[in-house]
Amino acid sequence: MKDIMTAPFVEEMKKTTANMYRLGWDERNGGNISYMLEEDEVKEYLDLDKVIRTISTGFDATDLIGKIFIVTGTGKYFKNVESDPETNLGIIRIAKDGTTAELLWGYKDGGKFTSELPAHLMSHMARLKVDPENRVVMHSHPTHTLAMNYVHELDEKKFTHTLWEMCTECIVVFPDGVGVLPWMLCGTNEIGEATAKKMEYFRLVVWGMHGIYGAGKTMDETFGLIETVEKAAEIFMLTAHLPRINTIKDEEMVELAEFFGVNYRKDFLNI
Ligand code: 13P
Ligand code: ZN
Repeated sequence: MKDIMTAPFVEEMKKTTANMYRLGWDERNGGNISYMLEEDEVKEYLDLDKVIRTISTGFDATDLIGKIFIVTGTGKYFKNVESDPETNLGIIRIAKDGTTAELLWGYKDGGKFTSELPAHLMSHMARLKVDPENRVVMHSHPTHTLAMNYVHELDEKKFTHTLWEMCTECIVVFPDGVGVLPWMLCGTNEIGEATAKKMEYFRLVVWGMHGIYGAGKTMDETFGLIETVEKAAEIFMLTAHLPRINTIKDEEMVELAEFFGVNYRKDFLNI
């Protein structure tokens, strides 16, 4: 059996959480990540017959029975993952009943998965229906995205359009746009269900006055989606109080989308 501390997926979780912390997106225990792993890669590092303990999830994830995820722990700080992955992360498998998580590794101090597991697993289920290669769901509190929530209408067409105007490559990176939810109580099945509903159409979902969710095939893709929104939101916040002299026009966005061959939300443009 190989040493799990050398596993590429643990390494990716360490690197990503450290990056997000240093970018200031994930203060204290803010943010969480779930990453679906292949059974074949996990069994090189863990005895899959050895369940440390079982933890009830409180919702039905029948579509994910037998699937294995590495997930950040609830109340755990992204800043500490790098130095102590075994306490701050856990590897869980969805049990045959669809509502129990079998702990295979981690949460060493008796902890458990993020309180946002409903939003994560429900989003995995929704994205896998659209894209069978989806593997990652990421939640974060990026500063400028959050700031923008207080001064911009929380309307997904208007919000996406403003972001697309802020960086030339935005429409190419997230042509499907950004879904937006109003402020809702976090950590609940209700916000999980609402997020998953948006994930049927979007890989990015803003939680009003809270943060953002991203979903993708890889850690890089998912991180890159949130990073691009955050960059656009930063440009918006740096310029929102100044007279706007120039902008990227809708016709130019069409030119970009067509040149890069992306399928964009035409109804989010004003032409
Ligand atoms: P957890 O510590 O449970 O992951 O919660 C952090 C968070 O961002 C809640 O939305
Ligand atoms: Zn949060």
